Amino acid sequence: MMDQIIVQGGGALYGEIPITGAKNACLTLMPATLLTDEPLTLTNAPRLSDITTMTDLLGSLGAEVVSMQDGHVLAMSSHDLTSQTADYEIVRKMRASILVLGPLLARFGHAAVSLPGGCAIGARPVDLHLKAFEAMGAELDLRDGYVHAKAPAGGLRGAVIDFPIVSVGATENALMAATLAKGTTVLKNAAREPEIVDLAECLRRMGAQIEGEASGTITIQGVDALHGATHPVVTDRIELGTYMLLPAICGGEVECLGGRLDLLEAFAAKLDEAGVSVTQTERGIKTSHKTGRVRAVDVITEPFPGFPTDLQAQMMALMCTAEGTSVLEEKIFENRFMHAPELSRMGARIEVHGGHATVHGVDKLRGAPVMATDLRASISLILAGLAAEGETVVSRVYHLDRGYERVVRKLRGVGANLKRIKEAHPDE
Ligand code: UD1
Repeated sequence: MMDQIIVQGGGALYGEIPITGAKNACLTLMPATLLTDEPLTLTNAPRLSDITTMTDLLGSLGAEVVSMQDGHVLAMSSHDLTSQTADYEIVRKMRASILVLGPLLARFGHAAVSLPGGCAIGARPVDLHLKAFEAMGAELDLRDGYVHAKAPAGGLRGAVIDFPIVSVGATENALMAATLAKGTTVLKNAAREPEIVDLAECLRRMGAQIEGEASGTITIQGVDALHGATHPVVTDRIELGTYMLLPAICGGEVECLGGRLDLLEAFAAKLDEAGVSVTQTERGIKTSHKTGRVRAVDVITEPFPGFPTDLQAQMMALMCTAEGTSVLEEKIFENRFMHAPELSRMGARIEVHGGHATVHGVDKLRGAPVMATDLRASISLILAGLAAEGETVVSRVYHLDRGYERVVRKLRGVGANLKRIKEAHPDE
């Protein structure tokens, strides 16, 4: 049995949506517990299947993760770890599993992690993570589908690491490992996503010495040990951006509670250019669009502070009914336009050539049966369905559960007409 979401299009949306803590921040904050034998507690955690997968992974290493307050508080302890091996059965479900490698290696001097699978959006290697550990003195051995890593006697050593391309995951992994390395580590061309800044803040609360995390060059002075802390997870800027698009695509006015403009300035600027009103309020971000189609705008995805790749599919859904032609260029992941053929089934006019998608805005989309192919593609189909005439049936919605907490309830809260049903298996 796989669930489907049935969306009835039409109608402006009004109201407010609470934004949860960031999935991608939580997925790197959780492995940080491996760096210390004292408790680490995260508040404002999102309740998502990816978080459950990370909970299972940490549990398989012997860490304790207690989920409280409906999953929004995670109390963790790595006091009694029993294993330094991240097993294929868990790692294959989620790429972010590689983030346990740095902390394990730094604290225990050795670790093995299965090579990850995850979303099918391009090759997504982990070579940059591994090169960073090598620069810190680790010896790596790739066999049986696992990376076996060993620190030199006396532990990892501080190093200057100049990343050839900006990688969020490699920056996080190297940052965590460097907190316990001997001496100073400098990460150049480092990612500066808000999730990196959040990780650095949490690590500092745990006693790490880190500077420059928002600047692209991060300097870390290694310390002998980290201690326990409590840390609130930063707001999810991708969930925020997704819901900010609702009034743009359906008309109406929606206030995203807890939203901060500094988390997505490039994205907000594009909405403004498209003719959508975006304002920071005391409680969050309000977007409104009262009448007519938005203007087509061109988008290039880039590392922060550029336009996020994780909002490209949703932006494409908006551009499907914009006035004019827009070009979306994907510079982070090849093969991240799997939503384009599905949107075309709803009447969108999209041509994909390599890393570019050209979208010719149409007057109206029509509801159709469509299939979710990855996390952000799934929500783009729901957004398109809300703007379309008639009924859209989205299959394979399990992708959504990885990254959108209570999506049906949140959308219904602003007047959207959609429901989740159990899909009968064709053989049943
Ligand atoms: C993270 C996010 C993901 C987001 C992406 C880019 C998490 C859990 N996921 O993914 O939602 O879309 O940042 O903002 O936080 N690369 C290499 N070698 C490596 C690592 C990466 O070549 O060792 C390449 C990737 O293939 C990609 C680019 O670098 O083309 C950026 O990827 P990266 O920033 O590492 O993405 P993730 O950390 O996997």
